[in-house]
Amino acid sequence: MSTLVVVGAQWGDEGKGKVVDALASQADVVARFAGGNNAGHTLVFSGQKVVTHLVPSGCAYPGTRCVLGAGMVIDPEVFRQEITALQKSGMLLQDELRVSLDAHVIFPFHRWLDGGREDQVGGTRIGTTRRGIGPAYEAKAARRGIRVRDLLHPERLRARLIANAAIVNAELERLGAEERLEVDAEVARATGWVVWMRPLICDAGELIDASIRAGQRVLIEGAQGALLDLDHGTYPYVTSSTTLAGGACSGLGIGPTAIDRVWGITKAYTTRVGAGPFPTRLDDAHGELLRQAGDEFGATTGRPRDCGWLDLPALRYAARRSGLTGLCVTKLDILAKMPEIAICRSYADGVVPGRDELDLARPVLEGLPGWGDPALASQIAQARRLEDLPAPARAYLDIISEAIEVPIALVSVGPGRDQTVFIDEAF
Ligand code: GDP
Ligand code: IMO
Ligand code: MG
Repeated sequence: MSTLVVVGAQWGDEGKGKVVDALASQADVVARFAGGNNAGHTLVFSGQKVVTHLVPSGCAYPGTRCVLGAGMVIDPEVFRQEITALQKSGMLLQDELRVSLDAHVIFPFHRWLDGGREDQVGGTRIGTTRRGIGPAYEAKAARRGIRVRDLLHPERLRARLIANAAIVNAELERLGAEERLEVDAEVARATGWVVWMRPLICDAGELIDASIRAGQRVLIEGAQGALLDLDHGTYPYVTSSTTLAGGACSGLGIGPTAIDRVWGITKAYTTRVGAGPFPTRLDDAHGELLRQAGDEFGATTGRPRDCGWLDLPALRYAARRSGLTGLCVTKLDILAKMPEIAICRSYADGVVPGRDELDLARPVLEGLPGWGDPALASQIAQARRLEDLPAPARAYLDIISEAIEVPIALVSVGPGRDQTVFIDEAF
């Protein structure tokens, strides 16, 4: 077994960074396949906290190769800052990092468009991260996107920018934005990027394929979560890329036969940041308690996350759409800080995710006994084996696993790398 895909099974921020970091010591390669710096993945180890936005969460292990795949959109300015910070702390060696020739590039004008659209009066406010993700993927689908490989050829780059300028500038004007895409300035900017990016650029599909063939262990890190998937999420309140495990194949350039296992990550409760349906959202004191206890503020934008109880119908849907073979449950220690807890096993009136729009879903909530004892939180935080977990926590994991028909592969009981209960083998 050499290839494991790890994806979010909710609306993002499930703890992908934590889980990937906890597994990365076993991997030779860690690769991301989609999204951009809308992602914020938090790693905590040896008293340090690191948030990655573009670089895969294997970066904290010197010697582990980190690959940014073709399905990603990359803002070179953010990429550069992230590399500099990681190198300064001694975590990332230059030769460990690779970026695909075919990844698309986010230019400042993509960010201006994203922000301008979000601020537009009367528009559909998605609550995006304003990082230019949607406009960059939109240009890709319209076949006027600019890829990493175009940066290496100034004349081709100029032609691609010219193909964008009239469309982009007309929209910026309509949005009332002050900025404009100026072709010469963007060519000059990109020339500066190439100086440091060139040694990192490669055919990432070939690299991953060769690693798998050589018997190396490849850990594939998703971004966002299943319910934010462009095709299968709560459209239009989604991101602009594939967040499901299937996207790992197209986003890296490998076939489905290369994937051995797929693990999904869920918090022990649910959070969402940005607009859109969230059936178990709590607008009361319980929601506020979860936000404070779980420190539920976005790792990328700092926005407060909406919080609610665990939504089993939505999780089951995510498990099916990504073909999960194992489930990782995070933040069980936080759930234990609540004076009482509930879970959603179904929606009223037979509403089903996928068939029905989730804004129609009214959760049927069930209180669970045995929680609310302050001693539980510390027992859970100290657990390192399944047997160490107190009975209510074990029962909770059983309920989840039975409802979604996927075995529990890992439980996270704190933000730190070592605060992990490993149940199944990753590789
Ligand atoms: P990601 O986007 O899926 O990588 O998740 P984020 O990093 O955006 O958000 C998850 C937050 O929860 C981060 O602050 C993590 O450090 C934290 N975290 C992850 N797992 C656990 C856990 O089991 N317990 C606690 N207390 N915090 C956790
Ligand atoms: P990680 O990888 C949580 C949400 C935004 C917004 C919607 C569209 O850290 O889990 P976009 O900027 O992508 O066009 O925004 O998607 N979103 C995330 N929410 N975690 C993320 O990433 C997210 N990436 C995007 O809040 O609702
Ligand atoms: Mg995050």
